This record gives sequence, structure tokens and C-alpha cells, in this order.
Amino acid sequence: IKKVPLFAQLSELQLQAIAQICSRKPFKSSTLLFSEKELGSDFYMVSSGSVKIYTTSGNGEEKILSIFKPGESFGELSLIDGKPRSASAKTLEDSTLVMISGTAFLELLRNHFDITLGIMQELSHRLRDTNQHVHDLTFLDARTRVIKSLIKLANKQGVRNGNTITIKLMLNFDEISQMAGVQKATLMQVIRDLEEKQILAISPSEFKLDLAKLR
Ligand code: CMP
Repeated sequence: IKKVPLFAQLSELQLQAIAQICSRKPFKSSTLLFSEKELGSDFYMVSSGSVKIYTTSGNGEEKILSIFKPGESFGELSLIDGKPRSASAKTLEDSTLVMISGTAFLELLRNHFDITLGIMQELSHRLRDTNQHVHDLTFLDARTRVIKSLIKLANKQGVRNGNTITIKLMLNFDEISQMAGVQKATLMQVIRDLEEKQILAISPSEFKLDLAKLR
């Protein structure tokens, strides 16, 4: 938990006290951690691996809202407002998560203003991100939305080597098109075009992007 930015301001003693109320658990890839609409019980921090947060339509289509990597946390909303989970959470790879029960989490917020402020900053960041997404869906054309989504994935999960960024492919093309808010056919068309221009190279397990050319 030392590596979780939310707890960055805490002393060693305080961290030890928090460690006492945490449990650490490994999960296999594609494990459903919780579903939208169920009551929230725990707060989660990613120790290793990654988790997707998504919402599902009546006919089973998914829209990914966010992906959380090591050091990031989720599951606070339903604990704070007492309402059901606002989205579902599933591991994207084998992952280890650190969990705190809802009551212990609320107790932490009451006792440590720095943690409360950290949560407020994180919620502000997510609201800004959501506003940006609404803006993009409203004002940008489909091709630009795909390119922005690729840049977002590169920033979030990419490993940089000079101008080339390698992104390990944990999302399939359906998920990437839903993230960008475009039809899969549009995504494939943009990808083919980027391949022809040698901006993007795809292998079964990864994307290689020339970020400077893409921008
Ligand atoms: P909770 O509603 O308890 O469970 C789902 C969690 O997903 C939620 O808390 C947040 O932590 C996270 N979440 C929900 N919506 C978004 C979003 N738009 N962006 C990032 N994270 C989100």
C-alpha cells in the first residue's frame, strides 16, 4: 500500500495500521469482482495486473469506462453514497488486489483528511475525464475518436522505446471500438489505414505505434 498514491502522505506507523485492515488476494484473469447494481462491500486497490470497469447494455454489449493499473483504486462510489455499484469490475489478466471493507474504508476517510482529499482529487479527475469523453462523443468524428483512444491506451499501458510505443493487447477489437464509441468496422478501417501509413503495426499480442506520426 506504500505505492498507492492515495496513501502517499501517511507515516510508516499509519501505513502499518492500514495494512492490518487490508486483505490481499490473487485473482485469475477474467474474474468478475462485482456487478453493476449490486451493493458495494469493499474498496479495491490494484497491486499487480489490471482491472476493467465497464457498464453493460440490456442486450449484453459492454462499454469500458476505465482500466485500472497497479497503484490505482476503485469501488469507492457505492461505499460513499450507499447506493449500488455504478459499474462492473473484471480482471483483464491474472491480478493481485488489496481490499478494505466498506466500514473500515469510511473510518479511514473520517480519520485521515489526506486520504479524503486524495479520493476527492481522484473523483474530480474522473469527472473531468468523463466530460472529455462526452465532448469527444458529441463533437469529434469517428476516426479522430479511434486515434484518441489509441493514444489513451498508449499513455495508460504503453511501454515507450524512442518514438515507438508498444501496447500489450489485453482488450479485443470489440472492446476498443466500444471504448472509442465507434462501430467495429470503423475501428478496423482506421487500423488498416494506420497500418498502410506505417504508423501502426499489429501482432496477435501487441500494437506498436509511432506516437509522433500518430499525433
Ligand atoms: P462503485 O460504484 O462502488 O463500483 C464501480 C466503480 O467503478 C466505482 O465505484 C468507481 O470506483 C469506478 N468507476 C465508475 N465509473 C467510472 C468512470 N466513469 N471512470 C472511472 N472509474 C469509474
